[in-house]
Parts: sequence; C-alpha cells; structure tokens
Amino acid sequence: MARDFKDKLVVITGAASGLGYSLCKRFAKAGARIAGIDKDEIGLAALSEELASMGVQASTFVCDVTDEDLVNITFRQIIDSMGDIYVLINNAGVSHISPFYKTKVSVLKRVIDISLFGTIYCTKAAIDSLIRTKGMVIGISSVAGFAPLAGRTGYAAAKHGMVGFLNTLRTEVARYGVKVLVVFATYIKTNIDKNNLSADGTPMGGGRPTSGNVLMPDDAADSIFVAAAQEERQLMLGDTAQASWDLYHSDPAAYEEIMLSLNEYVFEL
Ligand SMILES: NC(=O)c1ccc[n+]([C@@H]2O[C@H](COP(=O)([O-])OP(=O)(O)OC[C@H]3O[C@@H](n4cnc5c(N)ncnc54)[C@H](O)[C@@H]3O)[C@@H](O)[C@H]2O)c1
Repeated sequence: MARDFKDKLVVITGAASGLGYSLCKRFAKAGARIAGIDKDEIGLAALSEELASMGVQASTFVCDVTDEDLVNITFRQIIDSMGDIYVLINNAGVSHISPFYKTKVSVLKRVIDISLFGTIYCTKAAIDSLIRTKGMVIGISSVAGFAPLAGRTGYAAAKHGMVGFLNTLRTEVARYGVKVLVVFATYIKTNIDKNNLSADGTPMGGGRPTSGNVLMPDDAADSIFVAAAQEERQLMLGDTAQASWDLYHSDPAAYEEIMLSLNEYVFEL
C-alpha cells in the first residue's frame, strides 16, 4: 500500500453516525489518531467511548460544519492539541427528498451548506497543515454527484459542487504531494434515511426505498480505507455506482428513464 496511517492524524466530519463513525473505527484500526467532528454531541460521546475501548488516541469536537468561524476555531484546536493533519475526510452530509417545485429554498440551501460549504470551510482550515504533511483530502460524494437523482435537486447540486471543488483542488495541490480522493457512494445502511429532510425542512424519519445492493457502513469504510491507502483518485462505492457511471456516460436518456422509474415515489411526497 502506498500510504500508511499509523500514528497519523485523521480528521473526519459527520463522525457521530453511519459512514463517518465506521471510518473513524477503520482508520483507528490501522493505528491512526482520530479527531471526530459532528454537531451531534450524544453520538460523539458514544464514538469516544468506542475508540477509547480500542485503545485509540482520539478526540471529538462538537461543531456544525456550516459555521465557518466555528470550523476555524475547531481546526485550530485540533492542530494545536493533536498536531498536523494527515487525512481530512469531508463526510458530513444530509439530503432532502422532495421535488424542486415543492421544496423551500432554505432546505436546498441547508443541504448545499453542509456538503459543499462544509467541505470548503473544513478543507480551507486544514489545507496548510495538509500541505505540511503531504496529506490527503477525501470527499464523500454520491451517484448524485455525477448524475441526476429526481427529488434531490439540492443534494445533487451539493454533491456535484463538491466533486468540482475537489477535482480542481487535486490539480492545485498535487505539486505539494497532497492527494485527493472523491468517493461516489450508493446506498449505505446508515441514519441518512431518518435524517433526510422533507420539502419544508422537517426530518423524514425514514422510509426511503432503495435500489441495488445496500452496503453496510463498516464495509463501505473498509473500501474507502483501501482506496485511500492506494492513493486512488476516485472510488465507485457499491456495484450500483459503477453501473450508474457507465450507463450515464454512455446513454444518459436510458439512465434517466431507469432512475425515474425507481424514484416515481418522490412526486407523491
Ligand atoms: N447512506 C447513503 O446511502 C449515502 C449514499 C451516498 C452518499 N452518502 C453520503 O455519506 C455521508 C455520510 O452520511 P451517512 O449515510 O453516514 O448519514 P448519517 O445521517 O448516518 O450521518 C451523517 C452525519 O453527519 C452529521 N452532520 C450533518 N450535518 C452536519 C453539520 N452541519 N455539521 C456537522 N455534522 C453534521 C450528522 O449529525 C451525522 O452524524 C454523507 O455525506 C452522505 O451524503 C450516503
């Protein structure tokens, strides 16, 4: 493997649940030191306990990644107390499921603020440190980061934006030895279903139908860990992701037809 994470500092946003929680455990298992960021204090307490039981050097930080000032303060605390950052994983995110014409703009903005501006704020706060360590930035995007997904205009905008930001950042930081990995994920069994927002911004509480194989978060974290260690540029996470990439880039109309047939329910919401 090209990269070894032993004793290195890995910062993960959205660490209190789902994929972020599993990523903390996976990098910890490889000997990394962990800084977990989330707005969910209770979830972070559970994470701290689990990492402590693994004997890992870890700290957690309550921070809403859409608050630029708080992000800057949090990263300053992390670097001052734990040293330079080797890996930043921009994972915090939420979706909405609601057609555009019914959805409040404030909901679209919230979704974009978390995934896109959260990624920009955290990366900005970490970039000097990452250059010092010749580190790595990872972004958790989605199939909605390269193809349309009905009922998720805000989410698609956020995830496409993240991809454009990270792919361009890669070209700028390569000369400093910093790598960038973009992850295009399909369905992972996490709390995202509960946390997804409806048209007026209230959490949906679950009930999203899925298509294709559903990944378990620990398995997803394992694949991301391997891709990071191998310095991959992008990872298609789940077989539906690769199939979607191939079909959307060869026959976008056929892709849209299948995607719409699977997402007809969003027009009833
Ligand atoms: N689960 C899936 O099917 C799926 C598919 C594709 C991409 N993703 C992406 O994976 C990432 C992780 O999501 P998950 O599935 O583990 O969901 P999750 O809801 O289980 O976890 C998301 C975490 O992000 C945190 N978070 C949300 N907003 C935040 C904010 N403003 N500041 C700080 N923390 C915040 C939440 O508190 C939560 O702990 C997201 O970016 C999501 O878009 C998930």
